[in-house]
Amino acid sequence: MTDRVIQLVSESTRNIPLNFAPVASNAVPVRDTLQRKIHDLRISVTDRCNFRCVYCMPKSVFNKDYQFLPHSELLSFEEIEKIATVFVKLGVEKIRLTGGEPLLRKNLETLIDKLSKLQTLDGKKVELTLTTNGTLLRKKAQVLKNAGLDRVTVSLDALSEGVFRQMNDVDFSVAEVLDGIEAAAEAKLGPIKVNMVVKKGMNDHEIIPMASYFKKTPHILRFIEYMDVGASNGWKMDEVVSSSEVLQRISAELEPLECIDPNYTGEVAERWRYTSGQGEVGVISSVTQAFCKDCSRIRLSTEGKLYTCLFANRGHDIRALIRRQEHQDQTDLLLENAVRNLWAGRTDRYSEIRSANTSQAGDRIEMSYIGG
Ligand code: GTP
Ligand code: 5AD
Ligand code: SF4
Ligand code: SF4
Repeated sequence: MTDRVIQLVSESTRNIPLNFAPVASNAVPVRDTLQRKIHDLRISVTDRCNFRCVYCMPKSVFNKDYQFLPHSELLSFEEIEKIATVFVKLGVEKIRLTGGEPLLRKNLETLIDKLSKLQTLDGKKVELTLTTNGTLLRKKAQVLKNAGLDRVTVSLDALSEGVFRQMNDVDFSVAEVLDGIEAAAEAKLGPIKVNMVVKKGMNDHEIIPMASYFKKTPHILRFIEYMDVGASNGWKMDEVVSSSEVLQRISAELEPLECIDPNYTGEVAERWRYTSGQGEVGVISSVTQAFCKDCSRIRLSTEGKLYTCLFANRGHDIRALIRRQEHQDQTDLLLENAVRNLWAGRTDRYSEIRSANTSQAGDRIEMSYIGG
């Protein structure tokens, strides 16, 4: 083995050193500076979306002049598989495909087929999930299931057509999304989770109608506090509806709720159940009750940058590392060492230390680029 470190040069990203030497610790799963494991890899497969949600891809920014990534910049499915394989070796147990809208990526089932063969350190199938706006699910659900996808999470912010269109700012109907959810259920892509971002004055009056609709289904509705992610949504603290308010409103107007245990350490959503036993809801409180303490998520962008926090402003270029012509035979080792070192040095806990005024968003990455 050659003992050598070569710096890669890139302007918009941190350089990942080419490290051929064994790294300080080869323990698995790897742990960061706060002893957090690496559990959840989120892979963005496209930066495009057929929605223009006001809190994520406002039309004022994502208009006809917006430069999306050209195809040549995207990681190929083979490259994604190579990277995911290394992550699984280091302890990842769940992979989530995101976007933009991941179902806009052509032949996504080919990637799912590759990733569905990955096994965790203790020999189980890596859990494979996908976050979607649901518009293409009727067409694709069964194909995705056949390729090895385990479950889906669908974003839906309202049940009334007017509010839904006001939030997503395009011409899709609620009925199309509900039909997509139905198609996913028919294809057995459950338990299906439905994510609703709550923005005060916009869709908070939809909390009860949404809760009451999904209470009658096996799907789990989750209310998400509107976050200051990215730099284009003009976030203000007074537009956030806290999870505790959501829970109070449901308990008062629909049926009392009781808290239930998390499925796993570091689960983003807090789980609640109606006292009658019928139905579960979740709340995701990244603004009022940060959950960085157990954050075990790492994100891979469409063009191959790694982000150790949703609120990061610079990624770590891993594509340059795998596209090098030299040392092709040692790519896996280089990748493994790079990821180990990156995670071992991780200190991120943005949501715990954010201030109420985050107007200095600067060049923070967008959620549409890195995925939910
Ligand atoms: P499950 O596998 O179903 O448990 O998914 P999950 O709990 O990881 O949830 P999902 O991927 O659907 O994420 C839901 C929402 O939580 C996202 O769309 C974000 O709004 C928020 N979220 C997810 N991960 C993070 C994170 O690491 N930090 C912050 N601040 N918010 C997050
Ligand atoms: N705040 C909270 N969640 C957001 N998402 C996108 N932007 C935001 C934001 N500003 C999440 C939603 C959506 C998913 C694709 O990304 O959960 O369902
Ligand atoms: Fe698209 Fe999801 Fe962002 Fe809406 S929240 S614009 S559906 S990526
Ligand atoms: Fe993890 Fe960063 Fe979100 Fe905290 S803010 S939970 S560290 S991604």
